[in-house]
Parts: sequence; C-alpha cells; structure tokens
Amino acid sequence: MVAGARPGGRRHLLVGALLLALVVSGHCLDAHHNNRGLKRRRRKHEIHSPVKTVVVVVMENRSFDHILGWLRAERPDIDGLTGAESNRLNLSDPASPEIFVTDKAGYVDSDPGHGFEDIREQIFGSADTSASPAPMSGFAQNARGMGLGMPQNVMSGFAPDSVPVYAALADEFAVFDRWFASVPTSTQPNRLFVHSATSHGLTFNARKDLINGFPQKTIFDSLEENGLSFGIYYQNIPATLFYQSLRRLKHLVKFHQYSLKFKHDAARGKLPNYVVIEQRYFDCKEFPANDDHPSHDVARGQRFVKEVYETLRASPQWNETALIITYDEHGGFYDHVPTPVEGVPQPDGIVGPDPYYFKFERLGVRVPSFLISPWVEKGTGELSLPLNFDVQVNLIAQH
Ligand SMILES: *[C@@H]1O[C@H](CO)[C@@H](O)[C@H](O)[C@H]1NC(C)=O
Ligand SMILES: *[C@@H]1O[C@H](CO)[C@@H](O)[C@H](O)[C@H]1NC(C)=O
Ligand SMILES: *[C@@H]1O[C@H](CO)[C@@H](O)[C@H](O)[C@H]1NC(C)=O
Repeated sequence: MVAGARPGGRRHLLVGALLLALVVSGHCLDAHHNNRGLKRRRRKHEIHSPVKTVVVVVMENRSFDHILGWLRAERPDIDGLTGAESNRLNLSDPASPEIFVTDKAGYVDSDPGHGFEDIREQIFGSADTSASPAPMSGFAQNARGMGLGMPQNVMSGFAPDSVPVYAALADEFAVFDRWFASVPTSTQPNRLFVHSATSHGLTFNARKDLINGFPQKTIFDSLEENGLSFGIYYQNIPATLFYQSLRRLKHLVKFHQYSLKFKHDAARGKLPNYVVIEQRYFDCKEFPANDDHPSHDVARGQRFVKEVYETLRASPQWNETALIITYDEHGGFYDHVPTPVEGVPQPDGIVGPDPYYFKFERLGVRVPSFLISPWVEKGTGELSLPLNFDVQVNLIAQH
C-alpha cells in the first residue's frame, strides 16, 4: 500500500509528486553517471545455478496462521494451528473470555491495527517488550476497540479450501514456516526491506520521506554492477520508486505495465534475471472487484497468484525460474510463532525516529512465503540443488 494514499484527488497528487521526483532526481543522477563515461562496459556476472530468473511477488497484510495455519491438519510438517491456540480478550483480567482460533475467516469490516504500537501490543500483550520468547498474546485485546467481532476476526484463519491456490502450491513446492516480516510495523518499511535489506530508519508510512525517496543501496544496484538484468512489472504505481536509485532516467525502461508486458515477455523467454511484480495498491473505479473487504482481496489474490504461476509455467524460461511469494507484514492477524526478539542483526546502524527510537533488533510477525520452482522437490520442500543465485537470494533471505 502506498503511504496514506486514498482513491481520488490525493492519489493523483501523490502520483504526480512521485513522477516529478522521478524526473528531477533521475535527471541529476543520470548526468552524474554520464560524466563518468559509459565506455567501460560492466562485465556480466556468470550465474552457475540453473536458476537464472528470480520472480518476487509481495502480497499484503496477512499472517502465516491466517492464510496457511489450517493446512496443518493435512500437512503435520507445517507449523500451523491445532485449534487450541487462544488470546485472552483482556490480559489484565484473568476472568475475561478467551478467544480461540477458528477457520472461519471471511468478511472483515475494517483493517485490524498494524502500526508500531498495535503490533507491539499484539506480540507482547503490553508496551513492555522484554519478554523472550514473545508471548503472541495481545491480538484479541488489541482488536477489542476496533468494532464488533474484530477480536474473533483477527483470531480467524482460512480453511484450506478457501485458499485453494495456496493449498496446491504448498503441496507441490516449498512453504517457509519461519519467515517473518522484517520490521514490526506497517507496510512501507517492510516493502523497503524486501529489495534493500533495510528501511533506512523508516518505522511507519511517512508520506514525506517516501516522496523524497530512500538513498540506500538496493538489489537493483547490485544487479546492475554485476551486469544482470531486472524489470518491474507494476499495476498502477510502482512502490519500488520509493528507492531513489530507481528514479534514474536510464531505469525508466525497466518499468513495465504488468497487463501489457508480463505475459508477453514470459511467453518470449525475455524475462530479466530479477523480476518484481507489484500489486495493484489502489482501489480504482475501473476495477470494481477492488473493494475494501480483505476477504475479497484473498479471493482476488488467489486469482492473481495463479495467473503469475501459470504464466511462468508456460514460459520457455520455466526451467530456470524461481518464484518467491511473500507478504509485507501480518496485517494485525494472529500468529502463534514467537516473533524473534534476540540475535536479529541490525541492518545499518540507523535508529528509528522519536518516540520509539527503534533499533531494528527484532522482527515482525510471521508471514506466509513460498518458493516455487521446478527445482523444488515435490512434497519435501527441499531444493534438488542448492539455490545459489548469489546476490539476489542473499538479499531476499534477510527479509
Ligand atoms: C531449459 O530448457 C531450455 C530449452 O528446452 C534448454 O535449452 C536449457 O538448457 C534448459 N535449462 C536447464 C537449466 O535445464
Ligand atoms: C481489563 O481488566 C482490568 C482489570 O480487571 C480492568 O481494570 C479494565 O477496565 C479492563 N479493561 C477493559 C477495556 O475492559
Ligand atoms: C494493508 O495495510 C495498509 C496499512 O499499512 C492499509 O492501508 C491497506 O489498506 C492494507 N491492505 C489491504 C489489502 O488490506
């Protein structure tokens, strides 16, 4: 989700500001580049792995247990839900009701909380972050004031037949059940981590900072240094433009309309080494299915994931492809696996802003992630070869 953006006028303002920033900073950076001369061509890095194309899709706002927890009944090897997990509605009152997990996820009227403070309460049950392991006890309590039935909603998950595409992919390929959001906060800091292993200190969706862009080195820079290609297939606006390095004019050609180019490039075997497929972040009138109901988002998300998968499978590049599907953060939904609070490497020494001065030393809540490739051994979740797609996977693995 692009920070604070809403349909209508403000959206156009934000888009306008982003494009302006793209053009202005792109111009300066490009001039700087030209001064250094284009004579010396970069040597293409040789990829020894059979996997030469990594495709990354980052979905939104769902915890692992919410999406995949109930697969456990048929897949005991997956660390999901037993049905005995619960959260007390009021942690200060031992007599308050316990809300148990259910497989009845569906219509959710409003987004559960997933700002920094909400997530802290969800993970620790209070503002005291000293417990280790984290108790994962405050999801129901945090949702209490957010509307009728919200505590039950955040404790719910999907039965496998409500997420048939994921259930099938989990059977055929690999599911990660220890993959956590990079930062215990909202969407954009986590999205920044995906391609640069840091949010450069961002701990909330700060509109002004996002418009100015972030200066850190990204995976796109590493790819370019190594003579490898990348492409961003976006739907309405690319959130990857929040990285300053992608605003250079020379990178304009790396941005493609998903609907016009993705199937086309895949069918011709022309996908670059690193492919980012961006979500449709805005609710547009032209796409009436884009409403505010996360239950519909999941059905739409299932169709979208299937389309990406089928497109890759039909491509002549399929035998050299790995598709990674993950989520930016957990969206306020319950997960039972304690969030890591120790031994988390600090990415770059930058401390988050007032009032939390967050040091990026603990992760967010567990999210669903898949690795899909003909090189994944069916049903075992094991790779038939080590996936040493050097630069790319190393960076992503830090997510
Ligand atoms: C993938 O398939 C193409 C076309 O059939 C073939 O040329 C290529 O060697 C295959 N690559 C691998 C890693 O098997
Ligand atoms: C939670 O329980 C405590 C202790 O009984 C009580 O003081 C407090 O008012 C309760 N909070 C809510 C929102 O009911
Ligand atoms: C995801 O969370 C963001 C806030 O971080 C919110 O604006 C957005 O609407 C949510 N997206 C979905 C699909 O629920």
